[in-house]
Amino acid sequence: MNEARRHDDANERGSAQNHGASVGLSFDKITIRGGIPLVGRIELKGAKNLVTKAMVAALLGETPSVLKDVPNISDVRIVRGLLEVHGVKVTEGDEPGDLILDPVNVESAHFAAIDAHAGSSRIPILFCGPLLHRLGEAFIPDLGGCRIGDRPIDFHLEVLRKFGAVVEKQPNGIRMSAPNGLKGAKLELPYPSVGATEQVLLTAVRADGITELKGAAIEPEIMDLINILQKMGAIITVDTDRVIRIEGVERLTGYHHRALFDRNEAASWAAAALATNGDIFVGGARQPEMLTFLNVFRKVGGAFDICDDGIRFYHPGGDLKPVIIETDVHPGFMTDWQQPLVIALTKAHGTSIVHETVYEQRFGFVDALVDMGATIQIHKECLGGHPCRFGQRNFNHSAVITGPTKLHGADIVVPDLRGGFSHLIAALSADGTSTVSNVGIISRGYENFIGKLRLLGADFDLEG
Ligand code: EPU
Repeated sequence: MNEARRHDDANERGSAQNHGASVGLSFDKITIRGGIPLVGRIELKGAKNLVTKAMVAALLGETPSVLKDVPNISDVRIVRGLLEVHGVKVTEGDEPGDLILDPVNVESAHFAAIDAHAGSSRIPILFCGPLLHRLGEAFIPDLGGCRIGDRPIDFHLEVLRKFGAVVEKQPNGIRMSAPNGLKGAKLELPYPSVGATEQVLLTAVRADGITELKGAAIEPEIMDLINILQKMGAIITVDTDRVIRIEGVERLTGYHHRALFDRNEAASWAAAALATNGDIFVGGARQPEMLTFLNVFRKVGGAFDICDDGIRFYHPGGDLKPVIIETDVHPGFMTDWQQPLVIALTKAHGTSIVHETVYEQRFGFVDALVDMGATIQIHKECLGGHPCRFGQRNFNHSAVITGPTKLHGADIVVPDLRGGFSHLIAALSADGTSTVSNVGIISRGYENFIGKLRLLGADFDLEG
């Protein structure tokens, strides 16, 4: 691997974070005339937070993999680009959403080609284990992703070191090598991090010996990654109490897999149905992975019908009710669900509390809502539930939402992916016209959201 340039320090407690690039959209602003209920049917594809990792897993196989239901979102395009610069041949298959990933000719990438992906996503950190197995070295560019907290990678680097990786921080990324190979290890995460659990899985499956991970995250997307790795030949046991055991194997083959549906997208459209007095059938959504969301949705006053091919979410009439929510790791209420739901809570009769315990800065999106007429106060204290690790650290991580308030149109700027979708819902449910800028970020995680809005009857214009 050739390294040409060096600049800013890549800090273990949080590398540089750019906004997610607005990839593939010819516009960046939407003018929305609000007040129209969203009604109709949309179809989901695979979960962004599984598909991108499944693509990385393909690097571990000795034969091509086929991944189905891959959404056309910019995070997928970023991971595809990074795979391609490492010699993976990526082609579309017969059906829309099919991706064929051929890792037979994996090779070291030129520094400039890797660096072109700097600041675009958090997924590159998951290339470490697979590249170390395939090439004996890896260079990871500075990471990107939403600005919703510090988002350090210390757990990732710590587990990689325990596998035997040598980690060298460089001005614009991290260089790794494994001079003595990677060996199974006894590991324990201080917090059930999704990314760090995936890091362990993607590294341990081909490490020499047995790995035991305590304190693992067990999100459905992680379970689906385990399904994929098992199809490839891995031996992974999920025990009780967040313990995962992996017996390393020498060889893995490619996989054939249909990705788990995107439950974050499903919850976003459900929240849009509720806030706009609408009725949306979300094709592909399933009950088991959304159990916790469905309970809260019902408590707020939403209704749903669970069908074989999806879930219908609707506002059944009557007043919406306030709730107290605490975001948490699975099986708790996901952090990615709170932003879209907050719009419905501005319309609920009474005081709701959202205590964010996963990310310390995930309320950046509420300023715009307050400009639109919402009554939301943000507090540093842990409100409404149990104390969390942010309570003593001066982070604005609890929101008090008092309703009902009528939102009115405003000019607002999307701050991050889920906050951006929440801004769309706010504009769609507000009286009057809103202009939502920086919507390119939304394309990182929501496939064809403009086409879906059209299908559901939203009234809007696009601007460059
Ligand atoms: N953390 C550390 N050190 C680490 C890793 C994580 O302190 O080395 C902390 C984080 O700062 C955070 C907490 O642990 O406070 C949880 O982070 P986690 O590692 O679980 O999150 P992630 O893997 O970076 C994924 C999703 C997020 C989702 C979270 C939680 C992807 C690409 N991202 O992030 O999705 O919110 O898990 O479920 O899978 C989104 O889709 O909009 C999104 C942000």
